[in-house]
Amino acid sequence: MEGLPPHPMTAVEPCLWKWADVRESLLRAGEVISLEQSERRVVRLVNPGLNDRPFATHTLQISFQYVKPGENARAHRHTPAALRFVVEGNGAYTTVNGQKCVMEPGDLILTPKLSWHDHSNDSTAPMLWLDGLDFPLVTALHQVMQERYAERRQPIEKDSEAVMDKLGASLRHGVPLADFFHYKWRDTEQTLLALAGSPAGRDRYDGYLLEYRNPLTGGPTMTTIQCALQLLPAGDETASHRHTSTSIYHVFRGEGATQIGERRFDWRQGDSFVVPLWYPHRHLNSSSSKEAILFSMSDAPVLKALDLYREES
Ligand SMILES: [Fe+2]
Ligand SMILES: [Fe+2]
Repeated sequence: MEGLPPHPMTAVEPCLWKWADVRESLLRAGEVISLEQSERRVVRLVNPGLNDRPFATHTLQISFQYVKPGENARAHRHTPAALRFVVEGNGAYTTVNGQKCVMEPGDLILTPKLSWHDHSNDSTAPMLWLDGLDFPLVTALHQVMQERYAERRQPIEKDSEAVMDKLGASLRHGVPLADFFHYKWRDTEQTLLALAGSPAGRDRYDGYLLEYRNPLTGGPTMTTIQCALQLLPAGDETASHRHTSTSIYHVFRGEGATQIGERRFDWRQGDSFVVPLWYPHRHLNSSSSKEAILFSMSDAPVLKALDLYREES
């Protein structure tokens, strides 16, 4: 075939959003948008290369959500799958299919396709978190739909802590797959630090990489989204590689830089950035004393399912 490029091409551009700007926009949104009038209060990050599609990438969306003390974001469900990575606040909760998931910084909460979810903040502090969705992908497939729950809040039937207790630390038998929504930071941190304690666990491209696997299947976090954490020890620098999946990063801790193609993006806690497909990239921790931890989400499961995933160094 003539006229095809020698490698995949994308309009998605490497870009970075500073946390101070995002946070300021969120607080401003808190002054002008009420959750009585509006389904959700979010600030969505838009890639400068995607003029006609207001998303961070062609497959995944990142936005940040703000729920004030005493507020509730009403219950609904939709075909786009979503995840929440908690950034700031303590003690609010997301209810997923009747399961109460109390939100603390570093927690990852899943709301898979068509799961009912609502968010309530009964604490006294603002609650801010990252929302990741496969909305652009589901839009491209013409599958977007949403339904409202009959009540504003779902009745709470159980607590994610009790479900996880039942799951146990090793292989989790006897708990329906449909019941697992919540990765607590205290468990994740323990696993990540244990991994970082063994030099053999270091990946030359990703540092100490901990993927959020489905505890029952061992498969990706959700059908369309792979979430991961990367720990870069003080002063660490990774080697460059590229792949056909696209990643969105959020800096959970630390400061450093990521070289993406010809450009270097300096980051610190709270910043978010996009590594588009097939751009060579490498990360470095610019601190000589503190570790850096990056949260990421990627469309790799989709590329793998379609036999389009490739990577090279
Ligand atoms: Fe939603
Ligand atoms: Fe990568």
